[in-house]
Amino acid sequence: MGQDDSEGTWTLADGTKLMLRHIAPADAAREQAFVQGLSAQSSYFRFHGTIKDLSKKELKYFTEPDSRNAVALIVLRGGESGEEEIGVARYVIDPDRANCEFAIVVADKWQKRGIGTRLMKALISHLQASGVKQISGSVLKSNSAMRKFGKQMGFAETNIPDDPSILSITKHLD
Ligand SMILES: CC(C)(COP(=O)(O)OP(=O)(O)OC[C@H]1O[C@@H](n2cnc3c(N)ncnc32)[C@H](O)[C@@H]1OP(=O)(O)O)[C@@H](O)C(=O)NCCC(=O)NCCS
Repeated sequence: MGQDDSEGTWTLADGTKLMLRHIAPADAAREQAFVQGLSAQSSYFRFHGTIKDLSKKELKYFTEPDSRNAVALIVLRGGESGEEEIGVARYVIDPDRANCEFAIVVADKWQKRGIGTRLMKALISHLQASGVKQISGSVLKSNSAMRKFGKQMGFAETNIPDDPSILSITKHLD
């Protein structure tokens, strides 16, 4: 991996070669295909609603993060028709610059192979240089995989009074 742990390549146990890098405007078609390929459950867990396609505006937002306030990292693998996106994680810094909100999703068939961990570590590595003190996210209570993942990554859970179906998960950064 690169010096800031946010870009680089590695190989899974089955020999699949993966690459992690920042998202770019040229990834719009890849990002759309990735979202379209998510299972209903993964899409629901990520977007807390049913999303089948990203609009042009959403695609621009996701692939052209404002570099002062946001970072988006993707994992790619070489496929028959070129590089295929198989995971993405992002954060957006709140206006007070004390906290940021993150989201993460890995393509269903690539889950449970350490890709989410790699993405989250890279995201946090970026934040450490930004002065932001805390990273947080919204997780559906029924999302046991993400809750276990969050605990493993050092996040603490808090109930949200307005919505009993959602938890806020937070990690303080050193
Ligand atoms: C949550 C998510 C990002 C994890 O990504 P991943 O690449 O599968 O995660 P990893 O392989 O790095 O797993 C790390 C740890 O998370 C936990 N975990 C991951 N998937 C799990 C599952 N299906 N069941 C239980 N625990 C799970 C385990 O503790 C795992 O550690 P282990 O492999 O030592 O058991 C992935 O399941 C996902 O994309 N889910 C759908 C979208 C979503 O829920 N996003 C979160 C909303 S912000």
